[in-house]
Amino acid sequence: MFDDVSFAGRKVLITAGADGLGLEMARVFHKAGASIMVCDVNEERLAAVPTALPGVHVVKADVSDEDSVAQLFAQVKEKLGGLDVLLNNAGVAGPTGYVETLSKKDWDHTLAVNITGQFLCARLAVPLLKQSSHGVMINLSSAAGHLGFAGRSVYSASKWAVIGFTKSLAIELGAYGVRVNAILPGAVEGPRIRAVIAAKANTLGKPVEEIASHYENQSALGRMVTATDIANMALFNASEASRSVNGQAIVVDAFTQKLY
Ligand SMILES: NC(=O)c1ccc[n+]([C@@H]2O[C@H](COP(=O)([O-])OP(=O)(O)OC[C@H]3O[C@@H](n4cnc5c(N)ncnc54)[C@H](O)[C@@H]3O)[C@@H](O)[C@H]2O)c1
Repeated sequence: MFDDVSFAGRKVLITAGADGLGLEMARVFHKAGASIMVCDVNEERLAAVPTALPGVHVVKADVSDEDSVAQLFAQVKEKLGGLDVLLNNAGVAGPTGYVETLSKKDWDHTLAVNITGQFLCARLAVPLLKQSSHGVMINLSSAAGHLGFAGRSVYSASKWAVIGFTKSLAIELGAYGVRVNAILPGAVEGPRIRAVIAAKANTLGKPVEEIASHYENQSALGRMVTATDIANMALFNASEASRSVNGQAIVVDAFTQKLY
């Protein structure tokens, strides 16, 4: 990881930070000395975070729920006393299936978490970020936010929405010195991508091994990326080393071209 960057005194909120990429971001920013608050819907995993990362504040919050986000930001103000970095990380994989098989309930839930959740958090974070001299917002998109994927239309639509949201906010907030970027991870090795691979094999009627092999070999580097790769990009992008990177869709995918 980026060992030479200090975030001492910086206040960082990570949504969905009890597991997956969010937890790895918490680990990397914690090591860099930041004051961190993590929210998540999973209370059990949330409770384990301060044991692994002493001093990290945890709050149960659902980013798709307006009242829950309001309570989260009350805690941000009380416990962190302001905000320098919002990591809008929460996102669900959503359903896998051809469009005619998808339910409105699944469509609505995926958009509610993946894009409305970012809006609800951004809306309350912006007044705090404007007061910071290092205000940064990083919105998690996906390779599906600049490409299309058969069977993944809802997720892809939600992640393309993140890009439009990001670029618009970067323009709105530039005058206040607040930078806004999106990170687009490729397939991240871990249980989530394995579940997507299994669902995709089912949708396409192909063996899981065939789809898995495709995902494992689809990048120019011949491998998936790791959660640490994404967390390191978030740390770099939140740091002063990245002070002129703004309004960008930053792809971290080992250059993935051969897609399903
Ligand atoms: N893992 C990948 O391969 C991958 C690839 C590209 C983009 N992404 C994006 O990165 C982000 C993190 O992905 P991940 O794989 O770590 O996710 P994950 O599925 O591992 O989930 C991480 C955490 O999100 C929490 N969560 C779910 N819904 C929530 C909600 N409404 N409010 C608060 N917390 C909630 C879960 O409880 C869990 O602890 C997401 O936006 C995802 O779309 C992931």
